[in-house]
Amino acid sequence: MKLHGATALVTGANRGLGHHLAQELLRRGAKVYATARRPELVDLPGAEVLRLDITDQASVDAAASAATDVDVLINNAAFTAGGNLTTGDLGAIREVMDSNYYGTLAMIRAFAPILARNGGGAILNVLSAAAWTTVDGNTSYAAAKSAQWGLTNGVRVELAPQGTLVAALVPGLIATETLRDYVRAAGLELPEHVMIDPADLARVALDGLEAGDIEILDRIGADAKATLSGAPQAFDLAALAG
Ligand SMILES: NC(=O)c1ccc[n+]([C@@H]2O[C@H](COP(=O)([O-])OP(=O)(O)OC[C@H]3O[C@@H](n4cnc5c(N)ncnc54)[C@H](OP(=O)(O)O)[C@@H]3O)[C@@H](O)[C@H]2O)c1
Repeated sequence: MKLHGATALVTGANRGLGHHLAQELLRRGAKVYATARRPELVDLPGAEVLRLDITDQASVDAAASAATDVDVLINNAAFTAGGNLTTGDLGAIREVMDSNYYGTLAMIRAFAPILARNGGGAILNVLSAAAWTTVDGNTSYAAAKSAQWGLTNGVRVELAPQGTLVAALVPGLIATETLRDYVRAAGLELPEHVMIDPADLARVALDGLEAGDIEILDRIGADAKATLSGAPQAFDLAALAG
């Protein structure tokens, strides 16, 4: 689908990958609703800024009432620090599932009729290579991303009749502050070349969407997918740190 002249809504647009996705959409000539829990933190001249917490149904409904012209929905927002499943804080584990799975689902349920009215359009869900491996230290996040992958595949089938393209972006390591903090806390140091720059990834993601791809992978994402026919394995962050 062409993004020039499209109307896109991006969740979690105040920082990290979401900021770069919104910026790249603006560069390509799309109208952009840049949404965030704290809209005052959004720095994207040219975008329409909306307050949105994807885990709050009233907030999701308000966004859907305000942005009735959307034909591209980008579900990027996520809480990612759930920790391990057997030892992590259960509240944090639930929050990871709430944002990645139920929050994404709430957005899709609210916007699917809007996309239908606007010609079908597209949904891009931001997953992770963690969906296809796991990450010791953050297994709850990997499990939530696996659930989000299943959700993405299910919604694709359900929304095909209305002409909505449902795509997944499956990156490995994005050089955002959140990843840098996580790696630092693990006592590791990653060489820059194993991470993808969020601005570069935003371009890859939107090129894929414009080409009609249903899975858009970076190198680590592609490697993770290739492991799926073998025995399950954990992602080895320490090995990448060298
Ligand atoms: N960084 C990586 O290495 C990596 C790798 C693979 C996939 N990903 C995925 O890529 C996406 C972006 O990652 P990132 O590194 O850019 O993340 P980030 O910098 O931590 O940003 C997360 C964004 O999500 C927002 N958010 C969290 N919970 C929310 C909620 N309930 N409602 C609305 N917004 C919410 C945050 O808002 P606040 O500022 O208010 O907290 C923030 O804007 C995520 O889906 C992540 O799982 C990341």
